[in-house]
Amino acid sequence: MEHQPARSEYKKVWSALSTTDEQAKLHVIGVTEEAALQSTGEQTLGFLQESVGIRKDDVVLEIGCGIGRVGRMVAPLCRKWIGCDVTSNMLSLAAERLKDLPGVELKEISGYDLKGIADASVDVVYCTVVFMHLESSWDRYNYILEAFRVLRPNGRIYVDNINLCSDGGWKVFETHHAMSPANRPPHMTQNSTPQEIETYLKRAGFSDVRIRTDDDWVRASGMKYEEGP
Ligand SMILES: C[S@@+](CC[C@H](N)C(=O)[O-])C[C@H]1O[C@@H](n2cnc3c(N)ncnc32)[C@H](O)[C@@H]1O
Repeated sequence: MEHQPARSEYKKVWSALSTTDEQAKLHVIGVTEEAALQSTGEQTLGFLQESVGIRKDDVVLEIGCGIGRVGRMVAPLCRKWIGCDVTSNMLSLAAERLKDLPGVELKEISGYDLKGIADASVDVVYCTVVFMHLESSWDRYNYILEAFRVLRPNGRIYVDNINLCSDGGWKVFETHHAMSPANRPPHMTQNSTPQEIETYLKRAGFSDVRIRTDDDWVRASGMKYEEGP
């Protein structure tokens, strides 16, 4: 097998997975047809609306925005949508897909933090279909800490991952467990438990933490309350 970058080398791993439009779409959500991208994007928008809500004055930031599958749905509903991703390949594809939308900003990030985004400058941070690709739980937690930093008082956060404790999540786990360690690709999915995500949100300082587990996913939200007098 050809040499693969380490899972933690996010820029290398994800740049290699997004050299063409088709390959990027497949790695983002497993489909290439625009209609399917749109319907999955609408579904994610639904989860955002019922957890954190998107308001017309909001500045919204997505961690790991890919080709802008969800950004295409969110950007028309808010004041500014900032799509952050570790690879410029994904960001170039996102720029092309979203070129007709106003209020779109794209930003390349290191893969570990939101450096370059000012403290208390954002109303909503969300991160979808990304936590499963991070190398460690510390990297997941650090993004939650970074979200807390960049959110304004009363800002909201949404994050998700496949739920290890669900039947579907366990199936994914067993499939990957059955592979020989040398054959596991660096971007392979690693699930979360609801308790893991809940702990990070609470330890980072978020209040009103809500965890939804009614399908094979953990969907978590929280709020950065304004400090009292
Ligand atoms: C499966 S795709 C999901 C994209 C988008 N969130 C969506 O749902 O359509 C994962 C995305 O996360 C990005 N990514 C991977 N590791 C990252 C990291 N450490 N920091 C930020 N983005 C990362 C990848 O480049 C890719 O665009």
